[in-house]
Amino acid sequence: MRLKSIENVALGEMLAKPVYDDKCQLLLAKNVALTQNYIDRLMRANIHCVYIEDELSAGLEAENFVPDELKIRSISTVRQVFKELSERKTATYSIKSVDQIKHVIDEMMAVIYDNPHTLYCMTELMGSDMYTYHHSAEVAVLSMLVARNMKLSDHFIQKIGVGAILHDIGKMRISGEVLNKQETLTPEENQLMKEHPQFGYDMLKDNDFISPISRQIVLLHHEKLNGSGYPYKLSGDQIPIHVRIVTLCDIFNAISSNRSYKDRLSADEALEILRTEAVYELDRDIYYQLLKVVNIYPVGTVVMLSTGERAIVIKENPDAQTRPTVQLIKDNKRAETINLMDYLTIFITKTIEG
Ligand SMILES: [Fe+2]
Repeated sequence: MRLKSIENVALGEMLAKPVYDDKCQLLLAKNVALTQNYIDRLMRANIHCVYIEDELSAGLEAENFVPDELKIRSISTVRQVFKELSERKTATYSIKSVDQIKHVIDEMMAVIYDNPHTLYCMTELMGSDMYTYHHSAEVAVLSMLVARNMKLSDHFIQKIGVGAILHDIGKMRISGEVLNKQETLTPEENQLMKEHPQFGYDMLKDNDFISPISRQIVLLHHEKLNGSGYPYKLSGDQIPIHVRIVTLCDIFNAISSNRSYKDRLSADEALEILRTEAVYELDRDIYYQLLKVVNIYPVGTVVMLSTGERAIVIKENPDAQTRPTVQLIKDNKRAETINLMDYLTIFITKTIEG
């Protein structure tokens, strides 16, 4: 299977993964053959790309990632909890919501610990209207994987997961008009947006069921190491390790899963931007940990090689992620197999749609 944009799918191609709508309801099941009617339905639901099973990618299956079903359930839980907390419009909370969040995080922990090779893989499962919830769930998975790689204790990782999943909860206090505005924000609107960490912290600060570590993540996730962040312009050691992890994962996920498909970057492009632009702002050691947990070229990804040839990834290489085993594409068919570990002068230049 491989990811394809809606503009490029062909009639009759089979869906390799189910697609969900903005209410986490199944829109189209796995193995459905795409008709024009279905493609129109996907476009109306704001789905930008889907996993398909085509001749080129037949039999290729990505492994070792957090199951979609768990991700969908976590997105649905985040949505419910965010709504519930925002509708109360007071500092009170529901213990039940917090329990649900902790339950989802515990399930993610179990997946991560059961398989030490679990990697983060970007998913395109639902419409862009779910962006905030989808983003929150993905930042939680990513942050926990990074924390696991840093060998932090499971108690600590659980608190990081809860903080990461709730990091943007303060956005529920900002009107949809400002949140979803396409044009440039006015200075006042910009200022309001910058208050979301404080809003979120205020929503949770009296909640004894959420640890201070998780709350600190909500309050400080936009601080930068060089003091250029907000709201407190903290710098260096003033920013704790758990906050640094979530900040980096938040930015990575935001740039790699842009709401508009055209502006979306592949994992390798997003990592490159983070490397060059965030030298002074983000923690370099954590960046290297992130490199180890992001599946840069999942099986089924079509890539351009430095030789100018197109190839499809058929086997990942956990020890050197940028050097997977690929098969060259000739006449739109899979040809010779090349293990990039054996050909060190050949490298992948970019991910392409195919
Ligand atoms: Fe934020």
